[in-house]
Amino acid sequence: MIDKNSPLPIYYQLENKIREMIDSEELKPGDTLPSERDLSEKYDISRMTVRHAINNLVHEGYLYRQKGKGTFVSQKKFEQNLHGLTSFTEDMKLRGLKPGNKLLNFNTIAANEHVAKKLAISPGDLVYKIQRVRLADDNPIAIETNYISTDLLPDLTTETMATILSGSLYDYAESKLNLKIENAQQIIEASVANDFEIEHLHLEDGDPILLIERNSQLSNGTPFEFVKSAYRADQYKFIIDIKRNK
Ligand code: GLP
Repeated sequence: MIDKNSPLPIYYQLENKIREMIDSEELKPGDTLPSERDLSEKYDISRMTVRHAINNLVHEGYLYRQKGKGTFVSQKKFEQNLHGLTSFTEDMKLRGLKPGNKLLNFNTIAANEHVAKKLAISPGDLVYKIQRVRLADDNPIAIETNYISTDLLPDLTTETMATILSGSLYDYAESKLNLKIENAQQIIEASVANDFEIEHLHLEDGDPILLIERNSQLSNGTPFEFVKSAYRADQYKFIIDIKRNK
């Protein structure tokens, strides 16, 4: 219940209450949230306070609004364990979702200094720049931009690449080219979606995203790819297993 004498703000108590109902599955993904009026009457608090709590939960991704229809409980965030070096396709299949891709750009460009350093090549060497929207059950989840040395994937035309990239890049590299992707370093940071991400990930101004950079290497130590991804922060969370060494 809401404790009006508590030092915790009332909107925050309501937020916790709704969050608990979602976590305990009293409210399930897709369920309609009771109206602002119902909640304000039930807890005897102002509609403005209710709106404040709901706005925060929408921002955190627990709830989403549909114009003219109401406020609903979001699907649970995708969880990705950062333990293994998996591909997007594998991650989605593990969750029982259909992986998909929308190829935005594919060109051969001269590597700039940053990309060259990540791929251990010289600035000016040719790399493929591949930009894809990654989909789960046809919904956009991330935008991914890969840089791969043209030496590793020889003689690719736009048509062949389009076929390869409608499936899994890792699968193509491993089963067709016998490359062994073995290690990667990954950096994750929070940001706010830019206009390009807003458009392709169906976001709104001010929505948060998770920026991920991956630099992976083959078993012989050769860098395989340098990748920048922007994931929808309302749909994705990362899990890390940690161990205390004393
Ligand atoms: C993940 C990684 C990328 C990698 C991609 C390969 O999304 N963040 O670094 O390039 O998987 O995915 P797929 O094999 O499905 O094309």
